[in-house]
Amino acid sequence: MDAIDNQAAIAEAVAALQRGETVGMPTETVYGLAADARNPDAIRRVFTLKGRPADHPLIVHLGDAAQMRQWARAVPAAAWALAQAFWPGPLTLILKRAEHVSELLTGGQDSVGLRVPAHPVAQALLRAFGGALAAPSANRFGHISPTRAEHVRADFGRQLPVVLDGGSSAIGLESTIVDLSGEQPRVLRPGAIGMEQLRQVLGETLTEGAQAGSPRVSGALSSHYAPRAPARLASRTQLEAQTDESVQVLALQSVPDGAHGLSLPTDARAYGRGLYAALRQLDALRPQLILIEEVPAEAQWWAVRDRLRRATHSG
Ligand code: TXA
Ligand code: MG
Repeated sequence: MDAIDNQAAIAEAVAALQRGETVGMPTETVYGLAADARNPDAIRRVFTLKGRPADHPLIVHLGDAAQMRQWARAVPAAAWALAQAFWPGPLTLILKRAEHVSELLTGGQDSVGLRVPAHPVAQALLRAFGGALAAPSANRFGHISPTRAEHVRADFGRQLPVVLDGGSSAIGLESTIVDLSGEQPRVLRPGAIGMEQLRQVLGETLTEGAQAGSPRVSGALSSHYAPRAPARLASRTQLEAQTDESVQVLALQSVPDGAHGLSLPTDARAYGRGLYAALRQLDALRPQLILIEEVPAEAQWWAVRDRLRRATHSG
């Protein structure tokens, strides 16, 4: 989109949001299904469109960090420090919710998820709208997250009045989620901001993984992000043995001779950027099985490994 198209599309999106409708919004992580975070009917519509259970909370997207005060009843020093270090960017903070925050947004919990996205189109939309936007990833519940406008259209077609096109998402994996609503900071979902980076701000008290009583994260369901075809992790040797077209492979660097499928780069960030589009592309071929080549166990593959684990979880 050039600057003028962009402005017209944003004006159209703002008008739709003001009518309580839902629009497709590009972010640097994945595309979101955005609705006015202060309009309960608009939020209900997001759940209906996605087919998402009502107890799965939505992330509230803000134009800047100062707006945290409007959505959280307490903003701990750690939240300001993380915001300073990583916002705008791929980080979601879970804080104790302010009184006015709709139960619909929080899935009935006492906390709210907040993020300031970095994508210029998301920022322009937030600025023009002037309020906060509730936005889950713009995919049907349990399906692969969208990293291009066409993915959003494929999942929702004409049900959305506007899908803003912001190109391919630069990161391609959902935001890192850090829960600051409990006694100890806790990572609930791996993402582009890694443990090391977070520890530089939070110190060593940071732990990983949900515990009993921590807020629910739908991304933490094991079978989330799954393609329709069953997917399994496999070694390079196993990939090399596949010659049947009903098995599609997602390989590192190159598809072995004789096998069918796609490859992604061996750089973790580039891999993460391409992962969801590749899974969608392979899934569209309706294979009987998708074999995904194992990726390295190193720290920079943290978020990718998390998504691969979920994509290959059966049941
Ligand atoms: O990168 C992202 O975070 C993208 C873009 C669009 O911003 N959004 C996204 O939304 O991934 P969604 O709804 O697909 O996943 C958001 C996660 C969910 O797993 C949800 O449970 C969690 O954030 N979440 C939101 N509010 C929460 C809360 N109060 N407590 C715990 N988890 C929360
Ligand atoms: Mg999602």
